[in-house]
Amino acid sequence: MTTLQNKRIVMGITGGIAAYKTIELIRLLRKVGAEVRVVLTPAAAEFVTPLTLQAISGNPVSQSLLDPQAELAMGHIELAKWAELVVIAPASADFIARLNVGMANDLLSTLCLAISAPILLAPAMNQRMYAQSVTQQNIHALRQRGMQFIGPNAGEQACGDVGYGRMSEPHEIFTAIENHFTVSQDLVGLNVVITAGPTQEAIDPVRYISNHSSGKMGFALAESFVQRGANVTLISGPVNLPTPAKVKRLDVLSAQQMWQVALESAVKNHLFIACAAVADYRVAEIAEQKIKKSGDEMQLRLIKNPDIVSDVGHLTEHRPFTVGFAAETQQVAQYAQDKLVRKKLDMICANDVSNGQVFGQDNNALTLYWAKGSIALPETSKAKLAQQVVNKIIERYHAK
Ligand code: PMT
Repeated sequence: MTTLQNKRIVMGITGGIAAYKTIELIRLLRKVGAEVRVVLTPAAAEFVTPLTLQAISGNPVSQSLLDPQAELAMGHIELAKWAELVVIAPASADFIARLNVGMANDLLSTLCLAISAPILLAPAMNQRMYAQSVTQQNIHALRQRGMQFIGPNAGEQACGDVGYGRMSEPHEIFTAIENHFTVSQDLVGLNVVITAGPTQEAIDPVRYISNHSSGKMGFALAESFVQRGANVTLISGPVNLPTPAKVKRLDVLSAQQMWQVALESAVKNHLFIACAAVADYRVAEIAEQKIKKSGDEMQLRLIKNPDIVSDVGHLTEHRPFTVGFAAETQQVAQYAQDKLVRKKLDMICANDVSNGQVFGQDNNALTLYWAKGSIALPETSKAKLAQQVVNKIIERYHAK
């Protein structure tokens, strides 16, 4: 018997070209024995037909709030009581906005208002619509209310634009649904602080030194911990990622700001995980005005930043279990193990970044080292890798 066998899932489909991918998602769910009932908004019916969805889901498709026949089969209140999970894929900008203000002007929005089961949304829209502050505010508000989100992914869109807005792939949404039903709440009461993303070191009011970290690896770790019930504080450099539901996010820019917030948080937490790509050096004198172009050369004097994870590792009181990362382009194992000792860490995650395939990408591979052992975690999505890293950290934390 699979995890999803007999699970009762309402699949809400809203208007968007990505609706065609939802057919594959329903097929995957049905294959493992899940019960799927589809609810279509009027706009969604312009993209996929009820007949196709009925054939794939094996159940009548509900479309209208005011359809006596459909209400006879299973009324919207019964549907709300029946569902163990509502998945809305694709979730359009319009639907997300309506959900946020509590509208009940079609069957799907009414169902969402009547339901007590969790709701998982897979947004899909034009990248400009996704980036709009009003859309971001709506998503943030829904997350605060406990709704879960998967994606959107970045890439080329049906309209030709490139950016965040593509619906997650059916297998990714399927994994999120599986996780929803399988992940245990074994980390309730555990306080975790994670640093993620790059830092920005100002040169003058308009320029800075930074790196290519997107924050994806650190945010995936935060998501994995929170899914298992941990309290997570995420100290993030400037990234373009939504905050995972139930995560407390503290935004910083520079290494010094990250150091201050991290040291304050570390002593109040059980685990400290340093995934951020922190600038080792900052500009000694930040110009007050924009530096004007002059000679053929210019020099910037750099001074060392505090080493955040090393300072946490060397704490003598209230020291959390401390995990670092090591992004290396050569002698990865040796440099990582050296950092494990020098920074006084309990574990280090060695990241070979020599192929340019880690920063900003969706996949990664890591080798974890601790005092008397190591384990290689082969390449997979950062979301899956984060789950494996969390498992190992928890195992070592308990062993200590
Ligand atoms: O964000 P993504 O695009 O998903 O990419 C993920 C990642 C490559 C950034 C991540 O997996 C990773 O490897 N993070 C560590 C990057 C890094 O800066 O490594 P480092 O070897 O330079 O630093 C070693 C450790 O010291 C790290 O834990 C780092 O957070 C910490 N450090 C470094 C300098 C400093 N001043 N303070 C620190 O705490």
